[in-house]
Amino acid sequence: MDDPKNIFVLTGAGVSAESGLGTFRDRGGIWARFDPMKLATPEAYAADPDTVLDFYDHRRRGVVAAAPNAAHAALARAEARLAERGGRLFLCTQNVDDLHERAGSRAVVHMHGELLKARCTACEAVTPWRDDLNRASACPACGIGGRMRPDVVWFGEMPMHLAAIEDALAAADLFVAVGTSGAVYPAAGYVRQARALGISTCEINLEPSDNADAFDDARYGPASTALTGFLADLGL
Ligand code: APR
Repeated sequence: MDDPKNIFVLTGAGVSAESGLGTFRDRGGIWARFDPMKLATPEAYAADPDTVLDFYDHRRRGVVAAAPNAAHAALARAEARLAERGGRLFLCTQNVDDLHERAGSRAVVHMHGELLKARCTACEAVTPWRDDLNRASACPACGIGGRMRPDVVWFGEMPMHLAAIEDALAAADLFVAVGTSGAVYPAAGYVRQARALGISTCEINLEPSDNADAFDDARYGPASTALTGFLADLGL
């Protein structure tokens, strides 16, 4: 294949695993220890906001304490190098951490939102938020208290930036999924959309994902080496 010009990269929790942030569906993963229906739905937040906010406080503290790993750095380098060639690396992440940004990626699309932002359910304002969030937290925009939630996408809610993601997918000449189990849609469906558009696809993961059969190519191993090696082979 000629050097790709427009690479669509979809990342999942596996890309942050080596930074110490938990994945969801691995053995002992977050959803093996916590019930997503009680912690990651609008209904759970309405029924028991303190428990939901505590759960996200714990995860937010973990994100603040974590550091990007070699996989995040490799993607940031590849974004810059591809731009030098007049190309584009579109980074779509399912992750709500900021490790891609802290590694230097300049354009990151968080389709499941961002844990270091809080949204006011009274006025919809979104505010950067690195501290604990509780019912006493007041919205910096409207001043109303008790209406703040993490600016993340819960089960049953619409993921963010879907139109921009579809446009970028249609313009890509290479689709790469990194560190995702392929269990959650619409993200899990992007590889088949790419194939239908005649786009080359590669999975980079610790082990074959739920939709491994949909990929043309695969590299298995920790993202810090498997992704770095894959990008190096592309001269990125
Ligand atoms: N390097 C590469 N891949 C890894 C590593 C690693 N070091 N460690 C784990 N993985 C792989 C696992 O094999 C698994 O296939 O990462 C994948 C993580 O899958 P999930 O835990 O399901 O995470 P993800 O695919 O991002 O989940 C998607 O589900 O609960 C929702 O909103 C949540 O964004 C999340 C979405």
